[in-house]
Amino acid sequence: MTAVDNPFDPARYAAVRKPLLEAWTLPPDCYTSESFFRREVETIFLKVWNFVGREDRVPAPGDYAAFEFAGAPVVIARGRDGGVRAFANSCRHRGAKVAEGEGNCRAFSCPYHAWTYAIDDGRLIGAMEMDETAGFDRKDFGLVELRLETWAGFLFLNFDRAAPPLSDWLGDLPETLASYGLETMATTRRAEYELACNWKVYVENAMESYHVPTVHQQTIQKQKRDHNPPIPAAGEYCGLFTRHTGSRALLPGARGFPHIPTLEGDAARGTYYILINPSTMFGLTYDCMWWLELHPVGPARTRLIVGSCFPGETTGRDDFDELVGAYYERWNKSIAEDNAISERQQAGLSSPFAAPGRFSHMEPLVHAIDNWVLDRVLGP
Ligand code: FES
Ligand SMILES: [Fe+2]
Repeated sequence: MTAVDNPFDPARYAAVRKPLLEAWTLPPDCYTSESFFRREVETIFLKVWNFVGREDRVPAPGDYAAFEFAGAPVVIARGRDGGVRAFANSCRHRGAKVAEGEGNCRAFSCPYHAWTYAIDDGRLIGAMEMDETAGFDRKDFGLVELRLETWAGFLFLNFDRAAPPLSDWLGDLPETLASYGLETMATTRRAEYELACNWKVYVENAMESYHVPTVHQQTIQKQKRDHNPPIPAAGEYCGLFTRHTGSRALLPGARGFPHIPTLEGDAARGTYYILINPSTMFGLTYDCMWWLELHPVGPARTRLIVGSCFPGETTGRDDFDELVGAYYERWNKSIAEDNAISERQQAGLSSPFAAPGRFSHMEPLVHAIDNWVLDRVLGP
């Protein structure tokens, strides 16, 4: 079989595997083909700890939120014991989704034939007309529970029962970010966007500052940005750190909140831009954090969720509502700029004449992310 016959032949990617300044970018079909996308879902998203937002999305017992991740319908719910769990959103009778959207309930009642499941542990508590069915035991037909672990109030979902724990995935990241007090923060806004681009297009954009002077000319470009090497990372993440003064979550000249008093080390001297593999970016600056969460939907379709978190002392201020608008304006503007360029890049990548390019010295993490994907998609 030649490399052209087999899109997963490692020989096809030899140029991507070279050191940054000798390397070529991924072949364009890695961003457009259905088979490459399917392989990513199988070898990455169904195997790893996927970031799915923050626990305060379901703050009270009985709260639930249903969503789709990499083609799998999922529902997360807070039980009456206070714990948050994830279930496959698929009825054990004939498969209908038992929950839709967000809400609060005592139990999930399937809208098809009314099988009913406890919100605490997914056990089947009601199934009418099933008494005559031979050998039927309700105990065997609870909702399938999925692995869900938390760190500092953030939720991570894993479809693979054999995967090592979340703490292995995060490595030393919790230690690096400890002084932000993330566990005490509150989500004040969650914004969703449907994007016409591949998930890697967006991740790559988030992890390089090469595009900032052009794409963000009218907005965050006015924040002076130096080129910085990637930070050391012992875990499934990578990141950039920029040393500067003033919050990076505000446009120049905007009035904001006091700095987080507990910040230590580099956290007290600038901003971190972290990618938690494979598809979540955390921005952490002097006064808040924000995240960009990407759900792969199709080769050229991605759901983006942007979350904004502030410390409890900040959200409790009398002037919180008055001042927070300046932060939302910054995110609204810069995210609209990144969304537009990502969709434009996707359109260009779909050209039959699109071909691999080369990297600048400012794109080490784009190169690293692409190679991380190849390590998984091509296998050992
Ligand atoms: S499919 Fe859910 S009760 Fe029949
Ligand atoms: Fe950007």
